[in-house]
Amino acid sequence: MFTSAPADIDVDYSLLARQITSILEGERNQTANAAQFSAFIYQSLADLNWAGFYWTVPAKKGDAEELLVGPFQGKVACARISFGKGVCGTAAAERRTIVVPDVHAFAGHIACDSASNAEIVIPVIKDGRVLGVFDIDSPSLNRFRPEDQLGLESLVAIFVAATDFT
Ligand code: SME
Repeated sequence: MFTSAPADIDVDYSLLARQITSILEGERNQTANAAQFSAFIYQSLADLNWAGFYWTVPAKKGDAEELLVGPFQGKVACARISFGKGVCGTAAAERRTIVVPDVHAFAGHIACDSASNAEIVIPVIKDGRVLGVFDIDSPSLNRFRPEDQLGLESLVAIFVAATDFT
């Protein structure tokens, strides 16, 4: 198991921003753009084992909302996550990016892939509504640095602006 991020995790986020803008240009479908975005992130960043979306949907029970898995790259994941639960549900409930250097030290972390050691979850917010989250897992502890948070938030913002949500 890797315990720290390898040296080659540096990436040019302004180049990735131009590339994803071009990839999404001319298409506004939510499923298509989310699938393209997940694949692009998974291919473009080193040392990941999962990258994808969870969407805000009505809960199966009661009238609360919960998260339902959407387009992703990686191993089979948990289908539904309650708001406030796990890293994804916390990011959705608190409407902010959550960076977890060590998932084993995060109370309530939901283990989908045992290879995951670090995680970042960015809320997908449009017109003040949390439409879902974008979740990325890494096998390396401390994988996501402040520059990754800023860069990934800017890429998610490009995805949100390029997409019509249904
Ligand atoms: N670890 C997440 C669950 C989703 S999987 O990592 C894909 C969490 O704690 O919310």
